[in-house]
Amino acid sequence: MKSKVIDLYFFSGTGNTLLVSKEIKKYFEENQFTVNLIRIEKSQHLEVDKSHTIGIAVPIAVQTTFPFCWSFINNLPETDEKTEVFLVTTRTMYSGGIIGPAKKILRKKGYITIGAKEIKMPSNFSPTKMFKLKNDDKKTSAGLIEARRFAHNLHYNITHWLDVNPVAGIVKKISLQKSFSWMRKHHKMYANESKCIRCGLCFKLCPVDNIEMINYPEFKDTCQFCMRCYHFCPTDAIEMTNMQIRKYTAVKAEELLK
Ligand SMILES: Cc1cc2nc3c(=O)[nH]c(=O)nc-3n(C[C@H](O)[C@H](O)[C@H](O)COP(=O)(O)O)c2cc1C
Repeated sequence: MKSKVIDLYFFSGTGNTLLVSKEIKKYFEENQFTVNLIRIEKSQHLEVDKSHTIGIAVPIAVQTTFPFCWSFINNLPETDEKTEVFLVTTRTMYSGGIIGPAKKILRKKGYITIGAKEIKMPSNFSPTKMFKLKNDDKKTSAGLIEARRFAHNLHYNITHWLDVNPVAGIVKKISLQKSFSWMRKHHKMYANESKCIRCGLCFKLCPVDNIEMINYPEFKDTCQFCMRCYHFCPTDAIEMTNMQIRKYTAVKAEELLK
């Protein structure tokens, strides 16, 4: 790697991607790099230092990632400084619409795409009625080992980044153009007023300002289903129509607000 400074831009709904980002930071700091962890939801219009290596870490959602994470990638400035970039995703099973399409965008902007890795972590989107998932701790430990191995491979320049294929482009397009709006129509988030204590945590956590605190939380129409409000609500007052999701958090809510 060219630079000894890494700016690792991350988004994490429930903590998996934060844990992976921290593990990568830890590996590089043990090897005399400086790593800045920067939250994507606060970085849509940030000046990027093109002399640093750029890392991007995002969760998979409906086989791609959240539209606002794509906005971050799309908004990265062009570079003619041979800026190196790597990508990490966390997922439960399958993605398809991110690795190749992200490479295409970043190459076009002039970045050197040094490596991409998808890391398996526990699910934060499992319908409770379908199956009960166990072994979250085991999955997390295995995921963090993978994260560390990826950091090591980046350090020694032995990573790769798969090229775009037509299927990946189509998966991304369908997910972004259809799936999120379909979900907004069929699975509306709302606060159950009989349980809500009006603490405002959901409002503070929402990365896209979709929640207004009027008397109770009111949801607007830009939800991207990162599930933070749902999983971190201290009284389980945030509910979703037509679906029940198993509760899951990998870190404390404060970790995501820092
Ligand atoms: C709305 C939504 C859709 C998801 N879709 C997928 C998917 O298509 N494939 C997959 O492998 N995991 C999927 N997941 C699971 C997450 O990618 C996974 O649990 C991730 O590690 C969560 O990271 P976080 O805790 O940093 O938010 C989805 C999660 C959510 C909330």
